[in-house]
Amino acid sequence: MPPANLLTERTDAVVKVTINRPDKLNALDRASIDELRRTFTALIEDTTVRAIVLHGAGEKAFIAGADIAEIRARTPTQAERFSQAGQQLMRSIEQSPIPVIAAINGYALGGGFELALACPIRLASASARVGLPEIKLGLLPGFGGTQRLARLIGRGPALSLMLSGDPIGAERAEALGLVEKIAPDRDVVEVAMERAARIARAAPLAVRAILESVDRGLDMPLDAALAFESSRFGLLCASEDAREGTAAFLEKRAARFTGR
Ligand code: COA
Repeated sequence: MPPANLLTERTDAVVKVTINRPDKLNALDRASIDELRRTFTALIEDTTVRAIVLHGAGEKAFIAGADIAEIRARTPTQAERFSQAGQQLMRSIEQSPIPVIAAINGYALGGGFELALACPIRLASASARVGLPEIKLGLLPGFGGTQRLARLIGRGPALSLMLSGDPIGAERAEALGLVEKIAPDRDVVEVAMERAARIARAAPLAVRAILESVDRGLDMPLDAALAFESSRFGLLCASEDAREGTAAFLEKRAARFTGR
């Protein structure tokens, strides 16, 4: 039986993951986080999956944050573990060799925005609203938001968003570099699926090496990161896909990548 709070649907090499608690605007309770962790672990191990699209069920929300009712009932130790479980989920998505595309179809607040921030690609619907409102609850963004937002848009704008707690619209998010593209409301998941299908046609080892070089390189001194990049470049040059991609260019034909 499929897990209650999560739906998955596969189209060729692309898997669509739907957070499915629309009556609670897809708020992340502990059960949803655990289901997401299990699902992503399985997807990441499946070498036939080339891209993942993540979105929320219903018309209104991607994810309206961690489940506030659950947070209220926690002891400090339980809350710390909840934060750690959320952080592990975000990190596994951020480190995933398969790119995860967040299709932000409405509110992405708190933990929902933090989940989107961990994805390498974010697309937003025209009426999406994103933000970190935890300060209004007397809390802080505990799924990595204090770190990822500042790394993505810089300390000043990140602090301004976190200290006000006010959400911003899709256009402001795009201007800040937080979303790659804005799509009409009812099309955002479809646009994300097209984006995913395009990545699925790319050379998988190159996709993986680019994700890994950026993710690992950002935490290294520049010279170490450049050495890492060169080592991955060398490995890719030995792949069948690099031979095919370069031959296809010279022979003026489309490349057929196999992931070897
Ligand atoms: N946790 C738990 N339940 C949530 C939730 C959350 N983060 N966000 C929304 N819900 C629930 C509401 O309690 C409501 O449940 P009910 O119908 O049983 O009362 C349902 O989802 C619909 O939300 P509602 O507030 O009625 O919708 P709205 O359109 O008036 O407002 C929001 C939408 C997103 C502005 C509002 O729900 C909101 O501010 N949510 C909390 C955002 C937040 O602080 N996130 C960070 C959490 S750490």
